Amino acid sequence: MNRIVHGENLEVLRGLPAESAHLIYVDPPFNTGIQQKRRRIRVVQDAEGDRGGFGGKRYRTLAPTAQAADAGYADQFDDYLGFLKPRLVQAHRILTATGSLFFHIDYREVHYCKVMLDGIFGRECFQNEIIWAYDYGARSRTRWPAKHDTILWYTRHPKKYTFNLDECDRIEYMAPRMVGAKKAALGKLPTDVWWHTIVSPTGKEKTGYATQKPLGVLERIVRVHSNPGEHVLDFFAGSGTTGAAAAKLGREFLLVDESGEAVAVMTKRLEAYKPDVSDPIDPQAGMKPAIKKAAPKKRTSKVAVQT
Ligand SMILES: C[S@@+](CC[C@H](N)C(=O)[O-])C[C@H]1O[C@@H](n2cnc3c(N)ncnc32)[C@H](O)[C@@H]1O
Repeated sequence: MNRIVHGENLEVLRGLPAESAHLIYVDPPFNTGIQQKRRRIRVVQDAEGDRGGFGGKRYRTLAPTAQAADAGYADQFDDYLGFLKPRLVQAHRILTATGSLFFHIDYREVHYCKVMLDGIFGRECFQNEIIWAYDYGARSRTRWPAKHDTILWYTRHPKKYTFNLDECDRIEYMAPRMVGAKKAALGKLPTDVWWHTIVSPTGKEKTGYATQKPLGVLERIVRVHSNPGEHVLDFFAGSGTTGAAAAKLGREFLLVDESGEAVAVMTKRLEAYKPDVSDPIDPQAGMKPAIKKAAPKKRTSKVAVQT
């Protein structure tokens, strides 16, 4: 059954049975020290407006609403590892015997997290450091621009784990003429460096949720590291990218996030898969939908911009 849970994840994880998830992907707050915000520009049509639009129309930018200004989540921790550790201990308990954890982080904390995860899973269960490389946004002039995230892959068992390499998407050869037409048409398997664009600020995939990760990256993980019908868990779920990949590929998802905004975004994004949406913060509420239907809005257009 597909489920979205609105709640503090440690409490939810403690309630899950041992060995019940075949694949866990998490993308926790990175401890950047800043408030992650969804930047949403609201505009109205105005011939004298400050923005150009499709078909030569002009638009005027409106001041953000108080609700929009408050949206997002705080990304600063006094004891970051102390926050993560009990959740990752639970993740280890919840994984099946052949299951995998994918832990997504950036250059600031990855080394400390690697040492911590080695302690929880055992160094022999560390399989790969995957580098997700992209090229977007400002370029520092004082040091090399940081344009990658790191995804650490751990397995529950050091040797026995799901790894459907034949299911993996293929990538283009850098010099296709050197390998011949047949090989070039087939493409090659990726290495541990995954080049993939970020979610386009204007593309269809964009939900507007701060820090949304690309579906292509999640689809590769789900395809290779789980089987159809298996259970995929993400307990820092944000906009629900893991759920979108899992459902598209015929797996079941359980997504947890403490943010009402995240739950609203993923409920809408995944409505075609009819997830149960529950709110364990209020046990009296049972399986009530966490989201109320929004009241009809004034006629304004919205342009979502990645921060
Ligand atoms: C980096 S975002 C995840 C983005 C997601 N991968 C996506 O593609 O949209 C981290 C999420 O963790 C959530 N979060 C942080 N602490 C949490 C906690 N203790 N329990 C549940 N969710 C938490 C935040 O609300 C935020 O949505």
